[in-house]
Amino acid sequence: MNKKPIGVFISGRGSNLKSIVNACKNEKFPAKVVCVFSDNANAEGLQFASKNNIDTHTLDFNNFENKGHYEVEIIKLLKPYDIELICLAGYMKIITNTLISCYPNRIINIHPSLLPKYKGLNTHQRVLDAREVESGCSVHYVNSKIDDGEIIMQTSVPIENADNSNTLSKKILKAEHELYPAAIIKVLKK
Ligand code: GAR
Repeated sequence: MNKKPIGVFISGRGSNLKSIVNACKNEKFPAKVVCVFSDNANAEGLQFASKNNIDTHTLDFNNFENKGHYEVEIIKLLKPYDIELICLAGYMKIITNTLISCYPNRIINIHPSLLPKYKGLNTHQRVLDAREVESGCSVHYVNSKIDDGEIIMQTSVPIENADNSNTLSKKILKAEHELYPAAIIKVLKK
């Protein structure tokens, strides 16, 4: 199969990156991760990418005057890879129109809630405080608002009485690892 080149952006642990890279190992999966970008040179996921012979790039935002300049540099880094899709996977910087307009409808993100509910940070505790009976995860197209944009796929996860934010985040993360590769297949089929 002719695999489409994709890039993954991370800021930390990179467990979703792992699930995507592992999915790509299946010859029927329509994509191949050709580069990983991080705003954080210490992101754990970068080591995993290198071990899997995937190019990694980092840029420290503190060395740039503004987000526009930062993203222009990211665009330059990505250009040689000719990527079909950017997958944000725990990338904690807000993306602006500079990058979005360069990859229209080709940037997607995963968020650990049933969007449009519970955008932003500290999701699981807010869900529990609101006494929700379910939560979950969503993959959506990225626009310039936080955790906004058309939803591509979601998985719901029931909340049990004994759940705390730690147990809930583990359950949802497991669902994320299934959902993200499935959403990539869906997006690349379009
Ligand atoms: C994931 O739970 C992802 O949904 C979340 O960050 C975590 C990254 O984990 N993303 C957001 O909250 C985006 N708003 P990972 O580095 O192990 O993939």
